[in-house]
Amino acid sequence: MEVVIQPTLEQAVELAGRLIAARVRAKPDLVLGLATGRTMEGVYDRLVSIQQSDGLDFSRCRTFNLDEYIGIPGEDEHSYRYYMNHHLFSRVNIDRANTHVPDGMAADLQAEAARYEHLIDEAGGIDLQLLGIGEGGHIGFNEPLSALMSRTREKALTPVTRQQNAAMFGGDPDKVPKRAVTMGVGTILDARELLLLATGAAKASILAKAVEGPITAMISASAIQLHPRCKVIVDTEAARELKERKYYDWIFQNEPEWQEFR
Ligand code: F6R
Repeated sequence: MEVVIQPTLEQAVELAGRLIAARVRAKPDLVLGLATGRTMEGVYDRLVSIQQSDGLDFSRCRTFNLDEYIGIPGEDEHSYRYYMNHHLFSRVNIDRANTHVPDGMAADLQAEAARYEHLIDEAGGIDLQLLGIGEGGHIGFNEPLSALMSRTREKALTPVTRQQNAAMFGGDPDKVPKRAVTMGVGTILDARELLLLATGAAKASILAKAVEGPITAMISASAIQLHPRCKVIVDTEAARELKERKYYDWIFQNEPEWQEFR
């Protein structure tokens, strides 16, 4: 794992955008795993502006989102399908048929989860999976005690997550759905590269546990420590509780892999 600390939220988002853009340029038919949430909004804005300024081409990309609420149709502004259309897909030259979000309205959710896993396999697996981290330590909607080998499935959301996401539901956690379909931790770890982005002081404590603490199913984000190609980009606020900040900075300044991004 490599941790890159950027001075500001804007610079962290900018770096994440540039890294994704570099991967799309290197492999135009990239299979991209996507996340939703407030942290990602800036990243998608960044990708849109890179497309506008440098002609970044998404026409051959395929995408798979991590998760979707159960019981909210794709046309509803609270759904993650709507979020993706609004923040990214309608703003870049991606073929909507190549974009995938689990169907939270499926009558048979177990079959939907199996179908989603199959679609990822058929696409040849995910090249780069973008991740945020929840205040309770989830990636996707893998809440505490999610098996580290779990696959796409239905999951009940914790009160912490429903509180965290209440802002999108008029501030009322009771309006946040109780369940979601999410890629499993195992599904996420199968991606060939992981990029986790965390910004803001509210993520500092959980981020330090996920990155520097023991691997535990209580904090599904800690499973990224198992991945051989994982990058974590954070701003100073989110990095506040990390112990090895100097070492991380040294790696970013010196490792050739980061040269084009410094
Ligand atoms: C959303 C997702 C979640 C979020 C996480 C952080 O698709 O998978 O794991 O990435 O809850 O959300 P924000 O960015 O809103 O703090």
